[in-house]
Amino acid sequence: MSKQIFLIGFMGVGKTYLGEKLAVKLNLDFHDIDREIEKKAKLSVNDIFKLKGEKTFRDIESKILLNWNISGIISTGGGIVELKENIEFLKTKQTIWLNPSWQIIRSRILNSYRPLVLDRSEEELFKLWEQREELYRECTEIEFTNSNLDELLELLSDM
Ligand code: S3P
Repeated sequence: MSKQIFLIGFMGVGKTYLGEKLAVKLNLDFHDIDREIEKKAKLSVNDIFKLKGEKTFRDIESKILLNWNISGIISTGGGIVELKENIEFLKTKQTIWLNPSWQIIRSRILNSYRPLVLDRSEEELFKLWEQREELYRECTEIEFTNSNLDELLELLSDM
């Protein structure tokens, strides 16, 4: 299979925004695991959480990650690191971790309609972000803490 680059990181870091633009610059396809989950389940991410629960969502997410036979830039959901087998898989791949500060993430997600955001207080979200940090680090090849996505795009386009 030809090139696969996985974008990972917490909700709101800009994986989809950057991924779409980077794919155009590098002349690669762009794929988004959340969109593929919605296609497979014929439900929105929010409805899967609401009607089927998080475990079902994680099962579909993992099946797609481990078996999706495609190339290009692949944007993952922030919870992709919730399952150990996903981490083990990502360790063997080319991965880019978008890791801006909590303040930036907070400002981008607090008013969003993501199921995990609707369900949790700000403090709980902060704890989740802290817990996941080491998991992202485990499977990361390149980490970026810069929150300016257009600057990152320029940087990555030249690599
Ligand atoms: C999730 C992140 C979401 C989506 C789902 C669960 C998470 O994706 O997969 O709502 O557990 O962090 P984004 O990171 O693209 O928001």
